[in-house]
Amino acid sequence: MTFLELAKARYSVRKFKNDMIEDAKLEAILEAGRVAPTACNFQPQKIYIVKSEENRKKLAEVCRFTFDAPVVLVIGYDKERDWKNRRMPGYSSGETDAAIVCTHMMLEAWEQGIGSCWVGAFAADAVEEALALPENIRVTAMLPLGYAADDAAPAEFHNAYRDWDDTITEL
Ligand SMILES: Cc1cc2nc3c(=O)[nH]c(=O)nc-3n(C[C@H](O)[C@H](O)[C@H](O)COP(=O)(O)O)c2cc1C
Repeated sequence: MTFLELAKARYSVRKFKNDMIEDAKLEAILEAGRVAPTACNFQPQKIYIVKSEENRKKLAEVCRFTFDAPVVLVIGYDKERDWKNRRMPGYSSGETDAAIVCTHMMLEAWEQGIGSCWVGAFAADAVEEALALPENIRVTAMLPLGYAADDAAPAEFHNAYRDWDDTITEL
């Protein structure tokens, strides 16, 4: 499969089997995140692997989009490690860095035959509190991971892409 074929085939999986992901597959997914580009290569990302029933329940209490997946990756960044853009006071790269890491992992998951769904609809403070994360960590995304249920399917708007001219302009 070419990269473009993989990118087009992937869709957000929102219904999972209970089967656990093999360690080798999870390692490949995490490794894809580890090699992602980050501003100044500061690598401020932090990834929490949530597998235990107890912690998955805690996540489900603060976010209704964990889909009972067997593994949830909680992705964030260290506020003390990300790149601060002095040309734009107040801007730092952590959220962008974490998003690129998350994208790498989402696509590698598909390559491994593992479904995922990028989840952003939660209050970061609530997630950080539920998992008792350190003060310096900001959570930006979650990635429920697992084998897609037999009846999982792309949402009907999955292929509703905007036209080239709407989003791409040659200047
Ligand atoms: C930043 C971001 C946040 C998202 N948050 C959620 C979410 O909280 N819940 C959810 O079910 N899907 C979420 N999604 C998945 C999108 O709805 C999905 O990627 C989009 O509809 C396109 O569908 P596809 O992934 O199947 O191509 C999110 C995606 C992104 C990129």
